Amino acid sequence: MGLDIGSRDGSGGGAAPQRPARGAFRTKTVEQSIADTEEPEHGLRKELSALDLVVYGVGVIVGTGIFVVTGSVAKEYAGPAVSLAFVASAVVCGLAALCYAEFASTVPVAGSAYTFSYASIGELPAWIIGWDLVLELALGAGVVAGGWSGYVASLLSHAGIEVPASLSHRDGRFGFDVLAAALVLVLTGIVMMGMKLSARITGLVVATKVTVVLVVIFAGLFYVTGSNYSPFLPPSRATTGTGSTLHAPLVQVVFGFTPSSFGVMGIFSAAAVVFFAFIGFDIVATAAEETRNPQRDMPRGIFGSLILCTTLYVAVSLVVTGMQKYSDLDTSAPLSNAFKAVGAPFWSGLISFGAAVGLTSVVMILLLGQTRVFFAMSRDGLLPRAFSQVHPRYGTPYRTTVLLGVVVALIAGFFTVGELEQMVNIGTLFAFVVVAVGVIVLRRTRPDLHRAFRAPWVPVLPSLSVCASLWLMINLSAETWLRFAGWMLAGLVVYVGYGRSHSRLARGGTREPAAVRDAEEAAGAREAPPR
Ligand code: ALA
Repeated sequence: MGLDIGSRDGSGGGAAPQRPARGAFRTKTVEQSIADTEEPEHGLRKELSALDLVVYGVGVIVGTGIFVVTGSVAKEYAGPAVSLAFVASAVVCGLAALCYAEFASTVPVAGSAYTFSYASIGELPAWIIGWDLVLELALGAGVVAGGWSGYVASLLSHAGIEVPASLSHRDGRFGFDVLAAALVLVLTGIVMMGMKLSARITGLVVATKVTVVLVVIFAGLFYVTGSNYSPFLPPSRATTGTGSTLHAPLVQVVFGFTPSSFGVMGIFSAAAVVFFAFIGFDIVATAAEETRNPQRDMPRGIFGSLILCTTLYVAVSLVVTGMQKYSDLDTSAPLSNAFKAVGAPFWSGLISFGAAVGLTSVVMILLLGQTRVFFAMSRDGLLPRAFSQVHPRYGTPYRTTVLLGVVVALIAGFFTVGELEQMVNIGTLFAFVVVAVGVIVLRRTRPDLHRAFRAPWVPVLPSLSVCASLWLMINLSAETWLRFAGWMLAGLVVYVGYGRSHSRLARGGTREPAAVRDAEEAAGAREAPPR
């Protein structure tokens, strides 16, 4: 397959591609990123359409966030105003989506924010973001598998089969969640067998999930009681108890406020937590390399899934907090239990079933996303190259898939949803910050690049995106910030110990991508060798 450098980046018109800088801030040119996908052994198949991307997006976005987290957030932070928290979170995601869409349509290769930052800011920031994304996706998959296990255990219990707590959703007790770990391993096998199979299964699962969400909205409307909305935003109240300072949002700790819940600040704390419900639209961007026409389909895929999900979330949260007093909402299965509470067991069972089916696709796509980021990092030599070997028959990075699948299965087995969820949020928000900065940098360093989608009002809009993401980040707990700092420090050690010296860009002997060479010749940056 040929690569039309002239039309893609306009370099034929005279602008030479940026030469890589030295050291930790060396950048991989956009042409290099694209050319790497042309290597037969390290390239992924291109077979996704815009509709596939929306299905893919909804498949990963609608999950534990709306099915599980809504209940605990309404109960602990915002009351019925949790619907406003979803809107606040959606605004942050919308700003980031505009930046993601520009980047994804400019650099259509696997690896999402990692690839984007490699092409714009430099190798070390790219490594940091890749390391951060692996955290987001691996922990995210583990968290959602834990939620899935809870729903399956509850369904089995309906059928009279009791799974011992130590072997399923552990509810704070020590044990190993066998159901969650088994789910991860089975899905790892499916992902390893190829994108096509995964996309088909995802389509079926997504249809079930959206149907169940619509059932919650329309069936639930008949059980709404107006008095449950009063107060819509419960007044602020102080939180006390062991570790309340570490559990408090960083912004409260830093500015010396008494840790508190509810009130206006409660909406923002809630927004930072329900942000988990939106994670996934950024993962759509990781499939750029597997998309038939990324320049056109990426923005459509990202915005289509984001708008659809926001509408569903606001409707679901309004209905559920109208059905049951926020303080009575269940924290493990709030949607189905709200129906149980109003005396509608049939709907309750159906919703539990749909949630269990729906969470499956979330885990699968998170697994898929993380293998692609790991794959891209390995292809660049920042992780051992063996992990970017593509399976000759399935066309997937099978070694990476299996390795990460086993790690995630262990995470899903040993940890519970509450223990890890905020870590996933902070990692993702951090990636948003880097992508938004990347948009500004790339507009300055490569104004010549063809951008199928251009974010409006650059640099104002990306700057707003940075501020909005940072605002949600500082509304996460102080404890989460400490853990995040620990993870990033470990990443730095791995980069200094391995990535820095093994990087393909750092090694003189790396193959110079044909695309870069051709572009430089076309731009007159050097003479064409005899061919
Ligand atoms: N957004 C996904 C969920 O809510 C990760 O499960």
